Amino acid sequence: MKLFLDTASVPDIRTMWETGILDGVTTNPTLVAKEGRKFEEVLREVCALGVPSVSAEVVGTTTEAMLVEGRHLRQIHPSIYVKVPMTAAGLKATKVLASEGTRVNMTLVFSANQALLAAKVGAAYVSPFIGRLDDNGQDGMELIEDIVEIYQNYEYPTEVLVASVRHPVHVLQAAKIGADIATMPFAVMDKLVHHPLTDLGLAQFLKDWEKVPKG
Ligand code: G3P
Repeated sequence: MKLFLDTASVPDIRTMWETGILDGVTTNPTLVAKEGRKFEEVLREVCALGVPSVSAEVVGTTTEAMLVEGRHLRQIHPSIYVKVPMTAAGLKATKVLASEGTRVNMTLVFSANQALLAAKVGAAYVSPFIGRLDDNGQDGMELIEDIVEIYQNYEYPTEVLVASVRHPVHVLQAAKIGADIATMPFAVMDKLVHHPLTDLGLAQFLKDWEKVPKG
């Protein structure tokens, strides 16, 4: 399973990249706005670290505008995936971009039928937002189960990228279902590393080691 960071913070990405557990980065306009930096500058810095998958979202709402932006974004670096919203215009743009060899991440997906359409137009990734579904009283993980089942039924190559992840249990559930990728905030990925019994166990080992005769 691939683990992505959902952030535009270069220092956070660098920290996780250095641990060796990071497989990619997803950004969105909200995350980019939080950093107060130029979008392309951030993308270039993240790609320069060697991160092999970096999703950059278009903000145009017509197919034509999405194509112009998508073609521009993809030439920034070979690691760029173009993020396109799940709309009729977005489906059309994805079909064209995919036919040109651009890897598209279809975002703002909230139903299994939308995910089916994303696969049909050749999206490389589909991004269902599970946390936002949970917030609305719907079990987001049921959507992941449905999408994984549908993609297996028809052997679609589109990868299921679980987005809007809010806590480590989301990651665990996504892994058990067999989702390809989970993207999460830095704080959630950091929590995956830690367990209080690891800390207690290490402290005890170090304490006992002091009793071992040295020299
Ligand atoms: O980047 C897409 C998605 O992960 C956003 O998550 O927490 O804003 O619902 P969130």
